[in-house]
Amino acid sequence: MDNRKIAVFDSGVGGLTTLAYLKEMLPNEDYVYFGDFKNNPYGTKTTSELQSILKNNIELLEKKDVKIIVIACNTAGTQIDYLKTLTNVPLCEPITVTTNYINQMNDVDNILLLATNYTVRVGLYQKYLNKFNVIGQPAQELVRLAEEKKFDQKVIDEIMKEYENKVDLVILGCTHFGYFTKEIDETVKPKIIVESSYELAKYVVQYLTENDLLSGVGNANVEFVE
Ligand code: DGL
Repeated sequence: MDNRKIAVFDSGVGGLTTLAYLKEMLPNEDYVYFGDFKNNPYGTKTTSELQSILKNNIELLEKKDVKIIVIACNTAGTQIDYLKTLTNVPLCEPITVTTNYINQMNDVDNILLLATNYTVRVGLYQKYLNKFNVIGQPAQELVRLAEEKKFDQKVIDEIMKEYENKVDLVILGCTHFGYFTKEIDETVKPKIIVESSYELAKYVVQYLTENDLLSGVGNANVEFVE
């Protein structure tokens, strides 16, 4: 048992989708949420810019004495090997868990990966899913729409209408895209949508359970860190 809080971190509002799943799955935990609005968006940054931002963020969250840092952000998650060199606090990220889940599927051939410019470019999803045909499609503009709480079907059509009825599975490889799941589903019409935020939340439950790190005394309270 460990009564310390769970930290959830994202480049902005996107990780609130992960936090919502976690609160539902683990209501007896308390949470710290850090949305890095100051440095948003991450998806257009270079690797060195990203690493320097992430280093500061890990230091900030370490000071909160949390039992795990959930890197909700896929773009930040691409830097997991680097981040693990900075801290002894357990870290988890969405890309490995999401691709592990998809790799168990048998009835899937064509996959549309929707992610930030950076995540598509570094190609980790594509590398871990190399037995499938993965089309990496940047959808950076949706990050801005989510941050501004706006919805624009024209933007969704421009980015993904060409894939309508052409893919079996869509990966929401960016936390922010969870705000548009229904619209993406109706536009692309895949058989399955896999949301990285949901897969990550499931993994956190499994990790804390297996390592005897669950708390029984929390109330799903969230401390928002600036
Ligand atoms: N929400 C982040 C992700 O999951 C990045 C969005 C951004 O800041 O560009 O990749």
